Parts: sequence; C-alpha cells; structure tokens
Amino acid sequence: DTALTDPVSSELNVQKVEQKTEPSLAEGSSLSLPIPPLLEDENSDPAIAEYTLTADYGISEIIPNMTTNTLGYNGNLLGPTIRSKVGEAVIIHVKNNLMDSTTVHWHGLIVSGKVDGGPHQIIETGETWSPEFVLTQPALTAWYHPHLMGETATQVYQGLGGLWIHDDEASSSLGLPETYGVDDVPLIIQDRAFYKDGSLYYNPNMMNGAVGNVIMINGKVGPYAEVPSSWVRLRLLNGSNAAQHKMNFSDERPFYQIASDGGLLESPVKMTSIELAPGERAEIMVDLQSTQKGDAVFLMVSNTKSLKLVSNGTKTNNYVLKDQLVEIEKWDSADVENERYFDLEGVAHMVSINGESFDMNSVAFSLPVGRLEKWTVSNVSDSSGGMGMMSSGTEHSFHVHGLQFQVLSRNGALPPEGERGWKDTVFLKPGEKVEILVKFTLEGVFMYHCHNLEHEDAGMMGQFQVTE
Ligand code: C2O
Ligand code: CU
Repeated sequence: DTALTDPVSSELNVQKVEQKTEPSLAEGSSLSLPIPPLLEDENSDPAIAEYTLTADYGISEIIPNMTTNTLGYNGNLLGPTIRSKVGEAVIIHVKNNLMDSTTVHWHGLIVSGKVDGGPHQIIETGETWSPEFVLTQPALTAWYHPHLMGETATQVYQGLGGLWIHDDEASSSLGLPETYGVDDVPLIIQDRAFYKDGSLYYNPNMMNGAVGNVIMINGKVGPYAEVPSSWVRLRLLNGSNAAQHKMNFSDERPFYQIASDGGLLESPVKMTSIELAPGERAEIMVDLQSTQKGDAVFLMVSNTKSLKLVSNGTKTNNYVLKDQLVEIEKWDSADVENERYFDLEGVAHMVSINGESFDMNSVAFSLPVGRLEKWTVSNVSDSSGGMGMMSSGTEHSFHVHGLQFQVLSRNGALPPEGERGWKDTVFLKPGEKVEILVKFTLEGVFMYHCHNLEHEDAGMMGQFQVTE
C-alpha cells in the first residue's frame, strides 16, 4: 500500500517538522483559524451552569480543499470551549453518538473521582453521562478529552478534545486581555499526518507513539488569524498524542508566560520559546502594540511556521505588564508526611510505571485527603536493560488526576520559573527526575499516567484512591 508510506503532506508542500527552511502552508494560508465556540449555558439559574456535549462523527476541511473524516463534540472536529466560574454548580450532559464506547475526562479540573471521567466512567453508545461538580480551584486553562482504556489515543487523534476555561476574581481583576477569540485566543496545537486522499494517517508504530509531520491548530493546518495591535494573550494547549513541541515567534520576539497548567504564575516569565509536552498548557502574552495593520508574525511550532498572525491595527486593551500576577501558597517540603516513587520505564508498547502495567482492577495505593506527600518521578527508560539500540530511551509526560501539584525540584535543582506555579503534567526527558508535592482535597479513585497517549494506552498508567 503506497499510501501508507507516502502521507499527503509532501505533495501539499506542507513543511515537515524537521525541515526548517521549506515554506510552510501558513505562509500563503487560505484557512482562517477557527475559534472554538463558547458552549452555551442551558440553565437560566445564574448559580448553575448546564451544558451538553455530544460526541459524534464529522467531516472536516483540515487541509485546504481536502476532506477528512473526524470526530468532534457538538460539531465536526474538536469541541466547544466550556467556561466556568469559581463556586458555580456545573452540570454536563455528555452524549455518546459514536459506535464505540468513550469517556470524557476533565484534565486539570479538581473534581471527585466519581465524576473525573477516567477509564471507569464508560459512556456506552447512545448513552448520556451527566456529572455534576463545583470548582473551587483558581482560574486556569484546562481541557477535556476521551480516556477509554486502550482507545484514548485513537479517539483523541480523530478529533475528540476541547478546552475548558475556568475564571476567578483574581484572574479577572488583573486587566489581562480577556476578549475571547480576539485578544484572548485559545490555540489547540496537535501534530497529525494524512494520506493523499485527506484521511488521517495514524501510525503509532514508533518508539515515541504517533507523531505526525504537520501541525494542526484548532483543527486547521497552517491557518492565519487576525489579531489586534495590542497585547495578545494566547492560551496554548499541546493536545498532541505523543510529541512535545517548542513554540516561538518567527522574528524571535520575546513573550511572557503568565500561566502554567493549573493557573496564573506569581510573575510573568520572559522567554523567547516554550516547550510543552502532551497534555501541558501555558498562557503567554505577546506584545503586538507596535504592529501596523497588515504586519505578520508566525507562531512557530517545532520550527514550522504554523500560524500566521496578521495585525489589524485595532487596539483592544490597554494592558500594562506588571511584575505580580497572583500569590501562590507554597507547600513546604518540611511538612511532607509521606513519600512515593514513580519510575517511568520503557519505549513503544513496552512501557510501565514501577514495573507495572495498568490493571483496571488494581489500586496501587491510597492516601487521605489533606496529606502532603512528595512524589519522586524518574524517567529511567535510558537504563532499561535489553533495549539495545533504544538505549537512549524516550520522553514521558507524567500526569496526575484529581489535583494541581507543585514542582519541588527538577534534576535536583529549582524548577524553571515556568514550572513554579500549579501543574498537573510534567515532562521528563530520559534520565530526568522531578520531585512534586501533592495534596488532594477530594476523594475517589484517580489515575496517574504518561500523557504520551500511545504509552497510556499500552498500560503506562496506575490508579490510587484518595479517602476522607
Ligand atoms: Cu489528559 Cu488522564 O489525562
Ligand atoms: Cu511515556
């Protein structure tokens, strides 16, 4: 089958990730960046937000003039953005119109195990699952995606996933750009590959899982977006199955990271590039105040011109960058009551955590609500014996459900500034070791796993129980 070895991208002159100088589709892009619609609250009571998400089949134009069979929530591809506020009751009706079972996990939201949407909360074909919860955590950019054992990777790859933006008073009092889709722009970044006929090419048969050769942003390859000549806030999600991605601007302009996975940082962090592993989010602020109408800068993703940002000359905010964003109560490692170790090991489908593969019926450990623990997470894949040529190992990204944690150290040193806020996912290169502080507030059974979705589906996951 020639199609299998000849994905469509080269024909379309879409730049391959590793070829840095070839013009990319974004350069002459004809597709405008879609902004996921905000999901409408169906409940007239201001204290209750009620939403419906329906997983279904779709047909999408991801590459200009080609059609791709996809999956989406309430549409052809991806899903609407759900927006919540601290203290409001949220009810979501998740309907499964697919021929397969699915689940929906609220990645980054602190909810009890019963409504977390992990592999146990299966929604069969034709059924509706209606979790309810109240969020008390600080403002953050979170997301939702399927979490069905063994099928998370393929369901996400075909298009299931969406953003969740949670607000609180602190975040809305900072004067940050907040006009959704205008100067507060969500970007779901995912690599994909395609056959010549436009259909999705899913190839997980590599040691790193499924890594595509083109970048899709909000469901389009190489789109353009109009932006104001103001400060612009970009909410970045690496929603890829397996690849970490570096983001920077084509003119190397600096920008400021203002939020990590779990919300705002204490202070903006100035940088010229940021790397996100699968599952990680970051909010960044880029100063386009001095741009003129028509000026363009590209967002580069893994050295590919992936999104063309074209200034429209309008001013939409008067943001002035401040040193202080929010205060984060730092947990003290002197208060740690218990320690645990998580060794991430292996490549391809031979992956494990502490030598174990996921078993739906076994709970690795339990701990009480409110206990501060230190978890040491090590990527030991470089030392796994018998792997021969794969001795250099592979990256893993460690995600924990049910909380936001704090990174105590990375390789024995203070974590980089962008990791000093709330996190729910951390990236580990071969040989790396990260210590995190965890403290749970809600009970239930939760997952810890590698967010490389092929690794997760191959069993690189475990579960634990939080008790009252
Ligand atoms: Cu984003 Cu357990 O997943
Ligand atoms: Cu992994």
